[in-house]
Amino acid sequence: MCERAHHHRFPARPPACLRVCVPSNRTTGQSKRTMSLSLVLRQRSAATAAVSARGLHLMRPGSVYNFRLAAVAAAAPQQSHHPGAAGAVASSPINHHHRTFLTMACAQQQQRCVSIDNINPAIKTMEYAVRGPLVIRAGVIEKELEEGVKKPFKEVIRANIGDCHAMGQPPITFIRQVLGLVSYPPLFDDPTIPADAKQRARAILDGCKGGSVGSYSDSAGIEVIRRHAAEYIQRRDGGIPADWQNIILSAGASGGIKVLMALLRCPIDGKKPGVMIPIPQYPLYSATIAEFDMEQIGYYLDEANKWGLDIAELERSLAEARKVSAPRILVVINPGNPTGQVLSRANIEDIIKFAHRERLVLFADEVYQDNVYEPGSQFHSFKKVMMEMGAPYSGMELCSFMSCSKGYMGECGIRGGYAEIVNLCPDVRTMLLKCISAQLCPTTAGQAVLDCVVHPPQKGEPSYERFEREKAAVLESLRERAELVARTFNSIEGFTCNPVQGAMYAFPQIRLPPKALEAAKKEGKPADTFYAFQLLEETGICIVPGSGFGQRPGTYHFRTTILPQPEKLKEMLGLFKSFHEKFLQKYK
Ligand SMILES: Cc1ncc(COP(=O)(O)O)c(C=O)c1O
Repeated sequence: MCERAHHHRFPARPPACLRVCVPSNRTTGQSKRTMSLSLVLRQRSAATAAVSARGLHLMRPGSVYNFRLAAVAAAAPQQSHHPGAAGAVASSPINHHHRTFLTMACAQQQQRCVSIDNINPAIKTMEYAVRGPLVIRAGVIEKELEEGVKKPFKEVIRANIGDCHAMGQPPITFIRQVLGLVSYPPLFDDPTIPADAKQRARAILDGCKGGSVGSYSDSAGIEVIRRHAAEYIQRRDGGIPADWQNIILSAGASGGIKVLMALLRCPIDGKKPGVMIPIPQYPLYSATIAEFDMEQIGYYLDEANKWGLDIAELERSLAEARKVSAPRILVVINPGNPTGQVLSRANIEDIIKFAHRERLVLFADEVYQDNVYEPGSQFHSFKKVMMEMGAPYSGMELCSFMSCSKGYMGECGIRGGYAEIVNLCPDVRTMLLKCISAQLCPTTAGQAVLDCVVHPPQKGEPSYERFEREKAAVLESLRERAELVARTFNSIEGFTCNPVQGAMYAFPQIRLPPKALEAAKKEGKPADTFYAFQLLEETGICIVPGSGFGQRPGTYHFRTTILPQPEKLKEMLGLFKSFHEKFLQKYK
């Protein structure tokens, strides 16, 4: 019976390897004929076969045995007298006292249904350099250091990712107070927590079903927080109206970006939908385009012009892309990652006119809107500029993204963000809401943090001064570090670095000696990756090579964050400088 059941369920499969764990409390003296095994085969839902195992009494309690499924069946000829697999278990008298469940824990490789050859090919194509092979190596080096392996440095400096708190940035007290209160309401009785934090937390909890952040929220987020986000945008944009129903709260900005890209993922006239992205770009975009099997349309930023956007270059890249795809989206990252530029108002107006002319939906990635450092630079939201330009531009479709991960708060891990969708057709909006409803909701903790960002303490409230002081300290320190990094890189032979006007990164160009290029080629690595690996192995500094973001062919760059704390950053820049000098000597 067992054999029949086995063959019936798995006709053409090779025998599986079973790992049998015999419970240590198995009573001795049980009849080998009445002992039953229920094989719960995890990879076949509902596939439960029962066998009576003749030799089971020979197994020692507490031991583990490996054997092939066919062998189990063959070893149980009397099993065929049982009325059925499930019935065998149910009818076995001993079953009431003792049932051994075996889990198929180590099916052989060829038994698996999923292999590298039959997974989504788009996932294999996608890359995400910010957490790529260099970062994996950095993790291994950290482990080696912990184990006492001798290296020419004591620690890895992770300058590869814009993860502020990981690099020692302190959280903003007000944000954590509100987060604490909503998560653990007994804190409302704590007299040291200011009244405005309690009032904010109370409003959030009142918006939660059952008064708890443990409940699901509406898919677009808690209404009161969406209302606060709309008020924030309206204040930011000098009174230009924002409708709270156009605000979709998301898990970081990434959640909003991905869901809106998914919405526009539709072939047009048989052509793949195309997404215009800056080169260099933040790799979320290239990764998502690959994952969604859309067409990546890169437009180069103008390095000679502080990484500005050149309309002629937008036109060139669009004309080329139209031959093979249907361009639909224009992504602009402002302030820029990895390039750190802040776009001028005139530049933004030209981009809006271009998008209007070419019937593109604008995706304004504005997650660094608080991170503007250079005197004379100012953040202008695409929404504000578009609305101030009047018709026909004020009627354009725009999606703008904001995050709790950046700015002065840097709460990357809590995953808060929003998308504002402007001028979207109501039917399309309905579809968008349907689409997000399948994901239930963004984390309520992320929503609570976002509430603090869009509804911060106001003048006269008890937390106002401390909040403003902490916010200003973070931003001032980032401003100093932005200036220090660009200045130091420009002082190194072979480096040129545009000013870090905003965001959290520098993206210098390095000119590498021909011998280094040859050596990189021999190792089969892009030259900037070759350089970055050597830097990591010799100094512990982890950066991301420019090839992970895209760059003009024949040029080499890397991205570093400006996030290490000031003393660490100075140390890092010193190490960097002496490494580079040695590198030049080595490949002279
Ligand atoms: C330009 C840009 N957009 C979006 C994101 C996504 O951030 P999050 O999903 O944490 O909000 C990042 C993160 O570094 C970014 O740099």
